[in-house]
Amino acid sequence: MSIPSTPDAPEAVVQAHGLSQSYRIGQGLFRPPAMLHAVQNLGFRIDAGRTLAVVGESGCGKSTLARMVALAEAPTTGRLMLGGMLVPGASAAQQAALRRKVQMVFQNPYASLNPRQTIGQILQGPLQINTDLHPRAQRAQAAQMLERVGLRSESMDRYPHMFSGGQRQRIAIARALMLSPALLVADEPVSALDVSIQAQILNLLADLQASLGLAYLFISHDLGVVRHIAHEVLVMYLGQTMEQGDKNAIFTRPLHPYTQALLGSAPTLRRGLPGVKRVVLQGELPSPLAPPDGCVFCTRCPHATPRCHQERPLLQAFHGRLIACHEAATLAKSAAAANTVTQ
Ligand SMILES: Nc1ncnc2c1ncn2[C@@H]1O[C@H](COP(=O)(O)OP(=O)(O)OP(=O)(O)O)[C@@H](O)[C@H]1O
Ligand SMILES: [Mg+2]
Repeated sequence: MSIPSTPDAPEAVVQAHGLSQSYRIGQGLFRPPAMLHAVQNLGFRIDAGRTLAVVGESGCGKSTLARMVALAEAPTTGRLMLGGMLVPGASAAQQAALRRKVQMVFQNPYASLNPRQTIGQILQGPLQINTDLHPRAQRAQAAQMLERVGLRSESMDRYPHMFSGGQRQRIAIARALMLSPALLVADEPVSALDVSIQAQILNLLADLQASLGLAYLFISHDLGVVRHIAHEVLVMYLGQTMEQGDKNAIFTRPLHPYTQALLGSAPTLRRGLPGVKRVVLQGELPSPLAPPDGCVFCTRCPHATPRCHQERPLLQAFHGRLIACHEAATLAKSAAAANTVTQ
């Protein structure tokens, strides 16, 4: 399980401690800028061959986290280690090497491929910039990678618009793998695809992980998708971790009211989870510029007590996962009692 306080282990592909990102937001001429805390105090580790899925509603900070882990943005505070190396402490040459070890796959395979380049050019691009391989060897590697992601090597001279959405996402995955990364950061990689194509891409990602030992940071708002691909799950709300741990523990016995609400709003997942009732989240998502005092979820939580409105809960180990909820023990007890009654 991903426990932030776990001592640094050399085999972790990525480790984060207290990772935070804040943005200064201008509020017009006569008001001082405000701070938007997009991500606060996240901690996790991902080992080779493992997938950490990050789930949460729109605006909870998933892409911000992805950009930090992919080294596209430096965190405001916190510690990020890749392959046992502290990122901010690394020299320029080391940072360049680290960048090769982390690659991103984006949601929209239509926008992420240059329409003016052939597939061969797109795949050879990372090799041209980062290696001194002969162009013929680059082309051979690109053709090999194309076949590895399930496309024919004859596609090398075609352009992105000649492919379907699923095929383009295969090409985007192939491009991400050209430099043999250790970690793939996938930000909603199947959200723009039809359900049947989604399954094919998820299977491809699982095959690649099994054969190449890749670590995945997989971002999704779709718990059905997460259930297929994840080993560990981190549930975020307004930039903060609500619940985090082993996928099976969280899917079979969600304990945080927000996780329960997410699972309870997906009918296919709700079936088979006797303790999880249909939940419709009440109220609006609060503005990240003015989050509630106390627990950030308190304004929409059906179990909130006065304490929840005043005191921010700490993320603590409880029943085999981490959870930030003052009421966790009470809710776990009543869920256990309800299960005993229904048995
Ligand atoms: N560069 C930026 N400057 C200012 N605010 C930002 C910036 N990037 C993100 N934010 C804000 O940070 C918060 C988190 O945004 P983020 O894009 O990470 O959310 P998300 O979970 O990926 O959402 P979605 O599911 O819609 O993609 C949002 O309130 C967003 O407006
Ligand atoms: Mg996003």
